[in-house]
Amino acid sequence: MRPRYSVRHAGLDGGEGARYLWRAMEPVVSIKGVNKTYASGFVALKKIDLEIGKGEIFALLGPNGAGKTTLINIICGIVTASSGTVTADGHDIVRDYRSARFRIGLVPQELTTDAFETVWATVSFSRGLFRRPANPAYVEKVLRELSLWDKRQSKIMTLSGGMKRRVMIAKALAHEPEILFLDEPTAGVDVELRRDMWALVRRLRAGGVTIILTTHYIDEAEEMADRIGIINKGELVVVEEKTKLMQKLGKRQLTLNLQEPMAELPAALAGWPLALKAQGNQLEYTFDTREAGAAVAGAGGSDTPQDIPSLLRRLAEIGIGFKDLSTSQSSLEEIFVNLVSDGTHAGQAGTPDGSRS
Ligand SMILES: Nc1ncnc2c1ncn2[C@@H]1O[C@H](COP(=O)(O)OP(=O)(O)OP(=O)(O)O)[C@@H](O)[C@H]1O
Ligand SMILES: [Mg+2]
Repeated sequence: MRPRYSVRHAGLDGGEGARYLWRAMEPVVSIKGVNKTYASGFVALKKIDLEIGKGEIFALLGPNGAGKTTLINIICGIVTASSGTVTADGHDIVRDYRSARFRIGLVPQELTTDAFETVWATVSFSRGLFRRPANPAYVEKVLRELSLWDKRQSKIMTLSGGMKRRVMIAKALAHEPEILFLDEPTAGVDVELRRDMWALVRRLRAGGVTIILTTHYIDEAEEMADRIGIINKGELVVVEEKTKLMQKLGKRQLTLNLQEPMAELPAALAGWPLALKAQGNQLEYTFDTREAGAAVAGAGGSDTPQDIPSLLRRLAEIGIGFKDLSTSQSSLEEIFVNLVSDGTHAGQAGTPDGSRS
């Protein structure tokens, strides 16, 4: 079934004023029924279905060994899938490998560069590998963007780890790919470089490049991604727009600091999802973000409205006073940990709007 993309705009950050309508466009990467069993017999991927829209930033999250690199390497033609198909910009990555690979840039998880070459030579050579004509102005632009211009004549072995990682990115960009895979681009890089990389990724996207990245820094996904895919034990357990994911699976909590401590919850509050905390000094109300602000029927057939105003009214009616209140929302990190810790499948994977069943 054809995915339905609805129109959205984002990316107004950075003052670019650009509108990204990736969801209205054709998928640029299409993965259908991909399985991978390594020669050892280890099943690394199970029936992966995923489509990535043109110009989106997609973050693939998952614990160590989940299968993220395996999936990226399959798309980039480094690992062969046991079954299933992948197309990049309409080109089958097996039957039409050259055309597919030409459109892809890959920054691998493991640093692999020729230690004795200079930065300039290695990036220029990479461009030549894809049979792009020499373009010193473009190579210069890439090196400047990655703050490598001053190091262009340095041998790679003389660079720091973070600089080497930037060289890997420059190499991946050398042939002007439309789709860029970044497999843990910010592992082991300092805070400033991480921010530089985020800015670079946004600029690339503004230029029409589709970006698929993996990261163990959940805040990075929270900051960067339009959409998030979570892989666990070889299965894509969730694919969802970041904002929707946080709304759907996130919990919000309202904490009231009571004027008088309570020994137990009064019967008048039965049916409310409340808990007493801090030796009865705090009343904690937990609700799903999707229900926030809406008066919904209470669980178990009760028809008590369970929104914050109703709760506050009820407390006033029964004479419970509070000094102050605060709310908190679960982070993407908490959602992620919940999804991968018990192995339950909280969402339906594979469709861009991945609505939960
Ligand atoms: N060549 C191989 N032969 C056998 N098993 C492999 C091979 N490559 C990877 N695996 C196994 O496949 C699983 C997935 O590995 P993969 O590198 O895709 O994980 P990942 O999600 O990228 O993890 P990380 O976050 O640590 O990078 C792991 O259990 C790994 O040991
Ligand atoms: Mg990996």
